[in-house]
Order: sequence, then C-alpha cells, then structure tokens
Amino acid sequence: MQTELTRYRVEYALKSHRRDEFIEWIKSLLSGPFVLHAASFNSFKSGDIAKSSTQARRRYAEIFYDIEKLVEDQYSLQARGLQDQGRLKLLLPSIGWFFTELPLERAFYIQDDRRSISQRRLVSPSFNDVRRILNTAQVMALSDSKAPVRLVTFDGDVTLYPDGSNLLQENPVIDHILGLLQRGIYVGIVTAAGYSAKSGEMYMERLGGLLQRVCECEFLTSEQKNNVTVMGGECNFLFRLNGQTGLLEWVEPKDWLLPEMAEWEPDAIQGLLDLAESIMITLIAGMNLNAKVVRKERGVGLVPLPGQSLCREELEEVVLNCQRGLEVSKRAEKVNFCAFNGGSDVWVDIGDKRYGVRSLQKFLGDIPAGQSLHVGDQFASIGANDYKARLASCTVWVASPEETVEILHEFLKYLDESHRLP
Ligand code: IMP
Ligand code: MG
Repeated sequence: MQTELTRYRVEYALKSHRRDEFIEWIKSLLSGPFVLHAASFNSFKSGDIAKSSTQARRRYAEIFYDIEKLVEDQYSLQARGLQDQGRLKLLLPSIGWFFTELPLERAFYIQDDRRSISQRRLVSPSFNDVRRILNTAQVMALSDSKAPVRLVTFDGDVTLYPDGSNLLQENPVIDHILGLLQRGIYVGIVTAAGYSAKSGEMYMERLGGLLQRVCECEFLTSEQKNNVTVMGGECNFLFRLNGQTGLLEWVEPKDWLLPEMAEWEPDAIQGLLDLAESIMITLIAGMNLNAKVVRKERGVGLVPLPGQSLCREELEEVVLNCQRGLEVSKRAEKVNFCAFNGGSDVWVDIGDKRYGVRSLQKFLGDIPAGQSLHVGDQFASIGANDYKARLASCTVWVASPEETVEILHEFLKYLDESHRLP
C-alpha cells in the first residue's frame, strides 16, 4: 500500500503538471483505431498500406469529429453559464474555457497529410500530432469567425527566437508579423523578460530586427506601424512602437493597468519577492547549485553562474519549491505571481501573462478573448509561463521558432481564403 501510494505521488501528483490532460485524453482515444486498424497489415505492398491507412484515417477523423461536437457543446453551454454541465467537463474536470469552437476534423485531415499519421503502423498518434492538430484547428476557427482576430501576442524566447537570443532582421517570422500588421491586426510581444527602464532600450536591443523592419516596411501604413506593443515582465512594463522614430515609447500604467492589478500594494510585491529570494538562496545552498539570485523590480531569478548550467531536474525542483513555498504563504494572498522554468534559469515574476494579455486587450480597445491569439512555447500547468494566457485568449502551443513560422504561414493563408469567400 505504501509503495502504491508513493508511486501514485510520483507518477501523478508530482508529474501531472507536465501533462496536458486534454491532449493525453485525445491521444488515448486515438490509440483504439491505431491498435485495431493501423497495424492490420504485415507486408509492405503499397496496396495493403493504402487500404489499412484509409481505414485508420476514417476512424481517426470520426474521433476528431466527435470531440469537435463535444467542444461545440461545451462552448454553447459556457455562453449560458452552464459550463459545469458539459459532458467534456464531466470527462475532463480540468478542461479550461473555449473562446471559439474548434474544427478538429478538418484540422486532422490537414495534419494527417503533413505527418502521415494514418499511414504510420508502428508509431501511434503522438502528443505532438495532437498538439499540432489543435493549433491548426485554432487558427482555422479564428479565420472563419465572423468576429475578426484583432490581436496576436507572442512570447519571446523559444517562440520568436532561440532561448536567450535576439530577434534578428533576417528571422523569417518577421515577414509573417508584417503580414499580420498589414491585415490591420495588432501585434504584442508578451515576454517574461523584465526591464523597467522607461527608455525601453533593452527591448529595443532584443527586438531590434523586428522594430527596424516594421519601420522600414513600404507596404504598411503609418498607423499600422504603430500597432506593435511590448509587454515586459509578464504584465509589468508596457511599450508601444513609434513607427516614425523607431523607438519604443513607455506607456503609463494608468492607461492600461487592470483594476485588480492596481490593488497589488508595493510593500506586498516586495514582500513576495523577498520570500521568493529567500527560498532560492536556501535552495542554492541546500542543493549545491552553481547559481546566483538576480533581483529585479518585479521579479527574482535564480540564474547559473558564468560558464555553468543547471540541469532540467534541478530547474524543476527549484520551480516547484518556489511555487509551493509561495502558495502556502500569506504573502501570495495579496499579490499574484508566476514561477517558471525558463530553460536555463528559474524566475518568480509578479503577475502572469493572463494579466499581460488582458491589459493589452484593454489598452487596444477592449478586444474580446475570442478575437485574440497568444502564441507561446510554455503551456505545462505548473512552472510554465504561457499557460496562464489561456485564461485571457485563444492560444497556439509551439515547440520552436520554426513552428511559429509554420503556424503563422497557415494562419495568414486561412485568413486570406476566408476573405475571398462571398
Ligand atoms: P519569454 O520566453 O519571452 O517569456 O522569456 C523568458 C526568459 O526571459 C527567461 O528564461 C529569462 O532568461 C529571461 N528573463 C530576463 N529577465 C527576466 C525577468 O525579469 N523575469 C523573467 N524572466 C526574465
Ligand atoms: Mg518562451
């Protein structure tokens, strides 16, 4: 019994934050057709492969169609305040809020053609297959919607550029961002990187390639060039590009701060960061980490010493300790925070990207969540800082800057196709 309990804790309680329940559930539904149909031939004759993959494709598609109907049902119940009665909610208690319906069957066909899902005999539909089908379905839904998408926000590291680097002029994602701006869509970078200097120079250095290309772009109007914003420190520092001067201009918090954020008292903020700092100091000593603490105005980080690095397990141990240590403290009752693993470091920031995205939506004219999309790479439920953006807008979960380019390419294509329809 004791062993069972321990295994339960390790397998579920301590690892569940790394799993996405919705994706895992879809995967489990797809394993039925995979076992029964995908593996039903045992020769490599092309006729046999085609026959069994047609079967598998049809059955996978049926599953996606059925899930699409469950999402549709959940979406309509939400609108009536009856979300707890949804069958999807019953099956998956952790399911979040849907800001659009999701055309999952169509999205499956597209990704099946790209990833040979139903032709595969030995590798079952994977987490990444499902994640990418959900992404395609999300951008399709936003393109089809009668309420046009008005804001696309991006995480920085790993989403727009490799971890710790800068957004360079030649980065292909910039062409697609220009495409969004050209279609009248606002673009926001919502990053954890927190620099409080009102000059915005650190962000200009980080994002210089994008800012310069926007300013020099010949097909954007002057108004469209002003539609780039940067929200730093999750939700703490807002800047707007001046398309004429190429400078990022500081926006006063009174113009965008949400009422609930205004309630976070300066003393309470510093008290929470003090506690996070002391937890980190204790962990550095207790775990013999080659790391130091960096304290900022609205965040505190545990970063490796020069020339050193921390392994994933160490980083995760630090995140989970910070998360739990702060959660049980009274200080977290008065201020919201997020603790996350940045890939090579760990940060505790004041607020989270839900507030970052919502503040931008408010600032840009009360944009509803269903007309707003956040693209990010960190969507595990604990220790990942894009996750909270799910509460504020539609989301797309990428695994690399290359995937961001791909999904934007797809999104722009669907947007153009839907505009061509009568
Ligand atoms: P994001 O992926 O754009 O959200 O950026 C996350 C990365 O920004 C982290 O991994 C850190 O290395 C870096 N960073 C720099 N300053 C801060 C800060 O104040 N808070 C959190 N992350 C920061
Ligand atoms: Mg990131």
